[in-house]
Amino acid sequence: MQKILVIAKLPGIDTIRMKLKDQGIQVILKDGLSLEEVIEETKRDSEIEGLVTLMKHPLNAENLEKLSHLKAISNYAVGFNNIEIEKANELKLPIGHTPDVLSDATADVALTLTLMACRKVRLAQEDVLQGLWKEFQVSRYNGVDPRDLKIGIIGFGRIGQNFARKCYRLWNVPIYTLKRASLEGLDLDFPFHAASEEEFFKNVNLLSIHCPLTDKTKNMVDRNFISKFENPFIFINTARGGIHNEEDLHTALKEGKILEVGLDVTNPEPMDKGADILKDQRVTVLPHIGSATIRTRTEMCHMAIQNVADVLLGNPMSHQANSF
Ligand code: DGY
Repeated sequence: MQKILVIAKLPGIDTIRMKLKDQGIQVILKDGLSLEEVIEETKRDSEIEGLVTLMKHPLNAENLEKLSHLKAISNYAVGFNNIEIEKANELKLPIGHTPDVLSDATADVALTLTLMACRKVRLAQEDVLQGLWKEFQVSRYNGVDPRDLKIGIIGFGRIGQNFARKCYRLWNVPIYTLKRASLEGLDLDFPFHAASEEEFFKNVNLLSIHCPLTDKTKNMVDRNFISKFENPFIFINTARGGIHNEEDLHTALKEGKILEVGLDVTNPEPMDKGADILKDQRVTVLPHIGSATIRTRTEMCHMAIQNVADVLLGNPMSHQANSF
């Protein structure tokens, strides 16, 4: 029997396991294995032909080589920066991912962080918990009114557009993204400015990151990038922590160039609990919960396992991250 190895108890696994059983594929679950143990397991059991991995598993060239006897691998994530795609292409190994199903949930978290930053929720909440709420405050908690935001988006794909749409519908605010050839002819159900760099950095007062982590975007939001903004701004990142430089964000907060920071992703992950930036009450950090709803995580599970099953059944993978 063909087998797919899944290495965490993903929500919804039982439903797809039943469905695939009828098609002659067995989904086996081994929770908590290290990547080395996973590789061993796929070699020990020759019926394992496919694998579902998590973002935390580094599928670098060496590990991919060791897994090249498999027919397909799928990441349980839309992002696949943990996988060396060029090597997978060289090995002709199809790599799956989980686009679309998590766009709403991730954009919701960007929205949550936006509101938390605007309304200084961390400061207010800590005051309550520490018994510092003694009387009504006329100015301590006053933040940016979301209706005054000018939203700048880097990474105007599925999640970026979803977040932009939510902001536009809630507050009727202008949306900016940097002009790109790929935006030409893009017809959305809300208005947006495909702006020049000059226009973008002149206007934006909330920057939200939604692009993938690549060699080009690694450490992109650093001191130099921050200095391009004409006005102090709120910084939100729900994409990948490697895109920003945490030390530079902290310096910019201290210098007043950044007003508030909202992160669902950090660098490294998890963030050290003693990290300097975490001591600043203008910083809200969440433990990478972008896709963490039962519905979304269930849909991701079905998609990731189905990606691998597609190949095992002799079909093209439905959501393939690479092409060769
Ligand atoms: C992804 O899918 O890339 C998210 O960051 C994790 O759900």
